[in-house]
Amino acid sequence: MFKLALFVSGRGSNLKAVYDKVPKEKVNICAVICDKKDCGAVQFAVEKSIPAFFVSSKKENGFFDFDEIAQRLKFLSIDLIVLAGFLKKIPDFFVLEFENKIINIHPALLPSFGGKGMYGMNVHQAVFDSSAKVSGATVHFVDKIYDNGMIILQKAVDISDLKSAQEIADRILKIEHELLPFVVEKFADGKVLIENNSVIIAD
Ligand code: GAR
Repeated sequence: MFKLALFVSGRGSNLKAVYDKVPKEKVNICAVICDKKDCGAVQFAVEKSIPAFFVSSKKENGFFDFDEIAQRLKFLSIDLIVLAGFLKKIPDFFVLEFENKIINIHPALLPSFGGKGMYGMNVHQAVFDSSAKVSGATVHFVDKIYDNGMIILQKAVDISDLKSAQEIADRILKIEHELLPFVVEKFADGKVLIENNSVIIAD
């Protein structure tokens, strides 16, 4: 069984999409890791009896640091870590420890509209302000730099008819909910391959 852990910070709709759409006989969601004690994603994990852990770089009651989380995920033999709306920076040592095993979903077409501070509505507002006519979602590997790792899959959509950042966010979220479960299942099937510095998804 392919073992998955997801890092989350908020509403948890991408966590829910993965839970609902990826076949349970292929993928076991072993852990949800959150930087907040109370949010939609944690509530969903608790509802579905998925073990939830809390992470903080500071010493806080009831929180583990990234080192402890890394040990826990190693102990669980996690195959893939998904950042599904996790808004804290992943420390460099953690990225190295799980090289090519951490992916992120970003709500725009990287390499545009990415980088520090580019998350959630900030991204969609920047897209709207730019008067771009297309946007989309990107699933990519996580490296030491924000939104910089190799791109795994992207989907673009026309946004030329939309009148606000919120309308863009709503349209892109639907794309995210297709893209992320698809990519997770491809990983579980062993169909995501890195060749010559690019990512190939086999049929
Ligand atoms: C999603 O739109 C995700 O792409 C974005 O946060 C949202 C989380 O929603 N992530 C980033 O902006 C990362 N740079 P969710 O909690 O409902 O999945």
